[in-house]
Amino acid sequence: MVTLMASSSRSQFSSRFGFIMAAAGSAVGLGNVWGFPTQAASNGGAVFLFVYLIMVFLLAFPMLVAELTIGRYGQSNAIRSFRSAWPKGKAFAIVLGIGGLIVVSLILSFYSIVAGWLMGSFADSSLNLVGLADKSHWLTTFGTERNLVLMVIFMLLTMHVVRSGVADGIEKWSTRLMPLLFVLFGLLTVYIFTQDGSLEGLKMYLVPDFSHLTPELVVSAMGQAFFSLSLGVCVMTTYGSYLQKDTNIPKTAAQVALIDTGVAFIAGLVVLPAMFVAKHHGVQIFSDSGTLLNSDTLVFTVLPALFDTMGEMGAVVGAVFFLLMIIAALTSSISMLEVPVSCATEELKISRNKAVLLIGGVVIIASAAIVTNFNLLFGFVVNFTTVYSQPIIALLITLIVGWIWNRNQILTELKQGYPEIEKSLFWKIWPTYVRVVCPILMLLVFFA
Ligand code: PFF
Repeated sequence: MVTLMASSSRSQFSSRFGFIMAAAGSAVGLGNVWGFPTQAASNGGAVFLFVYLIMVFLLAFPMLVAELTIGRYGQSNAIRSFRSAWPKGKAFAIVLGIGGLIVVSLILSFYSIVAGWLMGSFADSSLNLVGLADKSHWLTTFGTERNLVLMVIFMLLTMHVVRSGVADGIEKWSTRLMPLLFVLFGLLTVYIFTQDGSLEGLKMYLVPDFSHLTPELVVSAMGQAFFSLSLGVCVMTTYGSYLQKDTNIPKTAAQVALIDTGVAFIAGLVVLPAMFVAKHHGVQIFSDSGTLLNSDTLVFTVLPALFDTMGEMGAVVGAVFFLLMIIAALTSSISMLEVPVSCATEELKISRNKAVLLIGGVVIIASAAIVTNFNLLFGFVVNFTTVYSQPIIALLITLIVGWIWNRNQILTELKQGYPEIEKSLFWKIWPTYVRVVCPILMLLVFFA
């Protein structure tokens, strides 16, 4: 994912396209295919989509630019980058950076559990393909042992990639497989509408019923937008530090945000109708009172039910789909592990190998604690990190960019990849926007 250039003193992405694939790889993941459709389904469908799009455009995109710019300016791990934007705020930078890396590690600890379920579903579809359906029950049945084993396998995979210097394997994979994911979703969207019940789902997804609009929905949409764009956890600050100086940051950020939102939108277009198709086939999706049952595992019930309706082809489509999802999850989990690893190698001066083993080991232990206390901890950690911590850290980063960091320095940094920026509409709006509007919007959403 991060193509390291041996000749430069600091690692860099080899090209703008490579960066977009890596940053989009971080952004596109379970949040798009599991998180977004599940939240939309639980929050009235279209209203959630509507508020989500507003949140991406009005809040997440400007903040993505802010995080990338701080990182590229600092040319270092998150803690040091914050310090170079605010040399006098050493303690603040340390607390913020460490806060970010704790939150991102916690996110990785639940993310790897869900990615493990994907691996189970993938193995299940593959075994079905070779006629071993009876052997695969364990893989898709919720249980502590299964969750533990699959989580550890996924974490080892993540650690392996980050340890080997994140060389060009993943960048190449992302470049080829992300478009494939798009195509597959496109085909699934076409297929789903040939199925009975799907229109009911489409209606839920696209026709807003504003009676669902609540303050909690707006907070959830904001959290989901930050989660989906990997904001408020120093990932984009760290990736920004690997970005070449001649890259146009606002344009690149817009492209990443568009790809990410496009994938989330299409995922909703498949999953919500698929829920109703599954319901049509007798799978229980809603409780008697009309609320969504088992929302955490919704996608894992609904999509296999959809694949089952495809007959022989279903197992193939299922296997390919879950494989692509594992790759999407992997390109996200790598970016998460990269944050504490880059801090540890630069701040503690330990080798990349050691840092990966140490931090990966801690994340596995945290993850095992969640698996063994699933009902108590899973939802709590998801909420604590994504609904509260990410927006709060993102807000603090915005305050540094808007109020503390010298505006001329920001301009000089951005100009390197966008020489005519001073005359652009972006520069007329963005600095004041990040200074005033973003914090106010966020505080409003919080205190609503
Ligand atoms: N953006 C990823 C997704 O939507 O699945 C999740 C994510 C990646 C969250 C990296 C946080 C992060 F630091």
